Amino acid sequence: MMNLVVLQVLLLASATALASSTAGYPSASPRAPPLPTWTITPTNNTRQFRGLSPVSDKVVWVSGTGGTVLRTTNGGATWANVSPSLLPENAATFEFRDIQAFSAKVAVIMSIGEGNASRIYLTRNCGHSWSATFINREATAFYNCMAFEDEQHGLAMSDPVNGKFRLIETWDGGASWDVVVSLGMPAALAGEAGFAASGTCLESAAGRWYLASGGVDPGRIYRSNNRRDWKVSNSSIAGRTAAGVFSVRFRDVKYGIAVGGDYENPLRNVNISSWSEDGGAMWQASEGFPAGYRSEVSWVPHREATAVAVGTSGSDLTVDGGRTWQNFDNGTFDAVECIRKDVCWASGSKGRVANLSLR
Ligand SMILES: *[C@@H]1O[C@H](CO)[C@@H](O)[C@H](O)[C@H]1NC(C)=O
Ligand SMILES: *[C@@H]1O[C@H](CO)[C@@H](O)[C@H](O)[C@H]1NC(C)=O
Ligand SMILES: *[C@@H]1O[C@H](CO)[C@@H](O)[C@H](O)[C@H]1NC(C)=O
Ligand SMILES: *[C@@H]1O[C@H](CO)[C@@H](O)[C@H](O)[C@H]1NC(C)=O
Ligand SMILES: *[C@@H]1O[C@H](CO)[C@@H](O)[C@H](O)[C@H]1NC(C)=O
Ligand SMILES: *[C@@H]1O[C@H](CO)[C@@H](O)[C@H](O)[C@H]1NC(C)=O
Repeated sequence: MMNLVVLQVLLLASATALASSTAGYPSASPRAPPLPTWTITPTNNTRQFRGLSPVSDKVVWVSGTGGTVLRTTNGGATWANVSPSLLPENAATFEFRDIQAFSAKVAVIMSIGEGNASRIYLTRNCGHSWSATFINREATAFYNCMAFEDEQHGLAMSDPVNGKFRLIETWDGGASWDVVVSLGMPAALAGEAGFAASGTCLESAAGRWYLASGGVDPGRIYRSNNRRDWKVSNSSIAGRTAAGVFSVRFRDVKYGIAVGGDYENPLRNVNISSWSEDGGAMWQASEGFPAGYRSEVSWVPHREATAVAVGTSGSDLTVDGGRTWQNFDNGTFDAVECIRKDVCWASGSKGRVANLSLR
């Protein structure tokens, strides 16, 4: 009993500390808020869902292996399988590694893979039917991630083709796609590539675009104001074949967080996260890292410097814009998206989809 009372006092104190950091980042090392816990929702499915797109408290879409797409319209109480009907030989192998949903009706999914396995499909009728709106025909392209700045305009990104990251662009909500002229894209380094782990190796935020890479040491982060002219900076995240920057997210034009690490060594936890306060020109190493490899980070809306990161070895919270992290769960996830002050969603392997209450 005594312990419970002490705990409650501590929780209240932390909540007060969090609420009082109203402008910018707290200058002193902030007290962590009460640690949240994930609530697993019953997908009744065992696929791996690296694609995650919550639209509201009620509507969430996930996409993943086996050509699978699920949708809930009741906050995760029940999930419907709304996968595209694929040719039988495709259905088993297609991996929808990224999804962007705009409503309960409209969603865009991206399949990864060599040659024509890299594809984009669009539904406008809740997933009852899907049309293929992009089928890759370039032998060396391999698409990793999509990002949209609004319901019409988006980009998708492929590993380098002829020595530069390849972008395709849509202006009609994913119904048609065109290759972006690559004149303003810097040359990629030998071995440099994106990671199709969570759909956030490409990011759109506050009118700017970002692209994250690995396969080189350190992993790099590209940035652009206009999708055509790109600059590139070193992150502080160590890179090699299976390591580098897996996810880059910006809160506004200045503050960004990048996470990653080594996919094959999920408990390695040094030089796996970076933060920027100048729009991605300079990246600083975190002082305290997440507990292991992290495939996605998401800012929590309306909570200043708070963000959540997930990976196969667990979940971590930062309340100081990525400078320090606190581990709060060791379950496996691949993707995380915080949709408002109090709610995040995560998805991953073995059909795991969960929500997090930050109240
Ligand atoms: C779970 O999936 C199995 C096999 O697809 C199906 O038979 C069963 O009805 C599902 N259960 C629920 C609660 O949806
Ligand atoms: C998240 O999980 C909790 C616990 O099951 C639930 O009460 C809540 O309604 C769920 N959904 C959202 C959007 O928070
Ligand atoms: C995709 O490629 C495979 C093998 O290269 C070919 O058999 C198939 O017809 C192609 N499908 C489409 C839609 O282009
Ligand atoms: C980025 O990192 C590479 C590899 O360590 C190094 O050669 C290069 O000078 C760095 N670039 C900048 C601008 O620091
Ligand atoms: C982490 O990065 C720092 C700065 O680049 C470097 O000095 C250090 O050796 C790295 N640590 C590991 C374990 O790679
Ligand atoms: C994961 O967390 C649970 C609950 O806190 C704990 O019981 C378990 O030992 C942890 N597992 C590992 C591998 O750290």
